[in-house]
Amino acid sequence: MTSPALITAPANPESVFTYGAPQLKFGSGASDEIGYDLSQYGVKRVLVITDAGVAATGTPQRVADQMAQFGIEARVFDGVHVEPTDVSLRQAVDAARASGPWDAYVAVGGGSAIDTAKAINLMTTNPGELMDYINLPVGGGKAPSQPLKPLVAVPTTTGTGSESTTICVMDVLALKVKTGISHARLRPTLAVIDPDLTRTQPAGVTASSGMDILCHALESYTARWYTTNERKQPQQRVPYCGSNPISDMWSEKALSLLSGSFRTAVLHGDDDQARSDMAIAATFAGMGFGNAGVHIPHANAYPIAGQVKDFRPKDYPADEPMVPHGMSVSLTAPAAFRFTFQASPERHLRAAELLSPGADRPSDLSQHLPNVLTSLMRDIHIPNGIGAVGFGEGDVDPLVEGALKQQRLLATCPREVTGEDLAAIFTQSLELW
Ligand SMILES: NC(=O)c1ccc[n+]([C@@H]2O[C@H](COP(=O)([O-])OP(=O)(O)OC[C@H]3O[C@@H](n4cnc5c(N)ncnc54)[C@H](O)[C@@H]3O)[C@@H](O)[C@H]2O)c1
Ligand SMILES: [Zn+2]
Repeated sequence: MTSPALITAPANPESVFTYGAPQLKFGSGASDEIGYDLSQYGVKRVLVITDAGVAATGTPQRVADQMAQFGIEARVFDGVHVEPTDVSLRQAVDAARASGPWDAYVAVGGGSAIDTAKAINLMTTNPGELMDYINLPVGGGKAPSQPLKPLVAVPTTTGTGSESTTICVMDVLALKVKTGISHARLRPTLAVIDPDLTRTQPAGVTASSGMDILCHALESYTARWYTTNERKQPQQRVPYCGSNPISDMWSEKALSLLSGSFRTAVLHGDDDQARSDMAIAATFAGMGFGNAGVHIPHANAYPIAGQVKDFRPKDYPADEPMVPHGMSVSLTAPAAFRFTFQASPERHLRAAELLSPGADRPSDLSQHLPNVLTSLMRDIHIPNGIGAVGFGEGDVDPLVEGALKQQRLLATCPREVTGEDLAAIFTQSLELW
């Protein structure tokens, strides 16, 4: 899929790719079976982890209430910070330790609750400090030495796919940088996806988290092909291995599902078919990107979120300024896919066709996928570029500096990407339409 002019061919090409996924239960009513499911692990004390907004829907307590009939004691912790920080994760770990020990964890919520549960699980089963496990170069990049407890992940947003990934994302406040922990042991034991739980997801959250699904699918579909990497030794293998035949299948299917459901789920949140299709699209895209990886839009999203000024998005907690993850990912996506187009024109055109079947192609074909994206973003009320969330031309250099720190993600880009390339992408993204 790549041209040798765009990426240096490895001396010893990779011939192996990997695929990992949790056990999965999907469907209306699936969340009523968690008590039974956990009883199969022989656990006695379970902590249900959520944020205050999701707690207000009553779902986490309902999940906890199922445990008693199986002889399991369950308690709800609703102190998750929306878009976790290193500080909020340490507080959550301390709270879990103080009330523990726990035999298993259940995360009920979006990526914020699920990622917080991953951190709690890691830090209550393994020695050391949170910073030891955070990805290099921000943290120590240490691998957990001990097995983790069972973690059941129950998403209430349609977005991150965190229920099937090995990643825990956080903002390191002192460094103003978003980074994460990534290790196969962090992957939830069981993902329970019950689309009924996503009906209360507000329109603004549905739009932003839906753009996260879309970018997971598009970035993993256009990621550099796994054989263009240098061959790894078994101990060097990481969850992200580049696009490959299996991740392609998930990404393509996620794009088709989004095509039929995304606008409807945002504009008519009570449409059960649209909610269900979005939920399965999020899962499929998670299976794709969780194995293939993501690239420029996600690398750019980290400094956009980390360097936020005073933007307060509708339908999110108003106490602090934030650019929600999916929104921050989507804002540079049109310009990023214009840049990556020449690495694999056929994939970019196919993705646009899956998302918007039969849409007219412009004479400049590199503009086709960006046009399909901006038309969707306008319809679901995503802000018009990074300018609309508070950034100006003077912010481009610090944004580039932040994105360049995400080398783990940029390594998955299908083209070599320099600081000048990123500066051009941020500048083109100041105003999208
Ligand atoms: N681990 C991964 O693989 C991965 C991947 C992508 C993103 N992330 C991370 O996930 C986080 C974002 O997660 P998210 O987009 O799922 O949103 P979220 O968990 O941050 O939730 C967003 C808001 O929606 C509310 N909410 C969620 N579900 C609701 C429901 N059903 N009804 C009513 N309100 C509801 C929450 O209370 C919150 O205010 C970010 O920190 C991001 O970096 C993780
Ligand atoms: Zn994402």
